[in-house]
Amino acid sequence: MAPTAPTPSTEPFEAPEPAEALARLGMPMADAMRTQRAVRRLHLEPVSHDVLLPLLELSLKAPTSSNTQDWVYVVVEDRAQKAQLAKLYRKLYRLFNPIVSRQARKDPKEQRAIAPGQWQAEHFEDLPVFVIPCYKRNIKHRPVGRPQISVASFYGSVYPAVQNLLLGCRAVGLGASLQTLPIWYIPTARRILGLPRSMNPVCIIPIGWAKGNYGPTKRRPIGEVVHLDRYGNRPFLGWTSPTTD
Ligand SMILES: Cc1cc2nc3c(=O)[nH]c(=O)nc-3n(C[C@H](O)[C@H](O)[C@H](O)COP(=O)(O)O)c2cc1C
Repeated sequence: MAPTAPTPSTEPFEAPEPAEALARLGMPMADAMRTQRAVRRLHLEPVSHDVLLPLLELSLKAPTSSNTQDWVYVVVEDRAQKAQLAKLYRKLYRLFNPIVSRQARKDPKEQRAIAPGQWQAEHFEDLPVFVIPCYKRNIKHRPVGRPQISVASFYGSVYPAVQNLLLGCRAVGLGASLQTLPIWYIPTARRILGLPRSMNPVCIIPIGWAKGNYGPTKRRPIGEVVHLDRYGNRPFLGWTSPTTD
């Protein structure tokens, strides 16, 4: 698919001043957690470093395995870099989008659900900024002996920070989404970003001022998910939250 021109903004959008945006970090935590979701439709105006850097800094308050902190954020704003990442994404997108579109053909609800992802894929290089969390592989992460432990500690050293970042974005009014498909072919992603072989890009988070809506998100009921003491014992089926309005 040929890259498309940036969508002309139909409504004027003015980004908040950084101080105003950062003041929104005081929103109630439960509200942020309840409404944070994958926001894929973004305004194409740039995101100030005065907003982004404090969010990145806060996100890194997250834990890492053995407190290794072997993380790197590659922040991509350069148009040519973004175009290369878009090219990589579209190689895969061209394969799966027709399948997804066909499946959604007769279901208007499903069509509405996939539309923001399609918009995003078509405008990938126009999105204001990508944050690409990377983590250094070390001896502890080698898949020998008990691979499930090393893999868990590798990814588990990245995703807590990613969730912090998503929550921070939600609070200040930025749209963000955790994505893995755009960097599906790691060697190419690594080459585009100039990463050494030891550094693995884990996901990509496109960020911009939110055009799409936040939640509340729909998730499985807690009573279905919580098993007490042993798998299969679910005494909380039917439980309702005192914090949900
Ligand atoms: C590990 C992981 C990988 C994901 N990869 C993608 C992706 O490649 N593209 C995408 O559009 N969304 C991706 N997502 C986002 C999920 O699709 C999204 O969070 C889920 O559908 C729930 O949507 P909601 O948070 O808006 O309710 C990913 C989420 C996770 C946790």
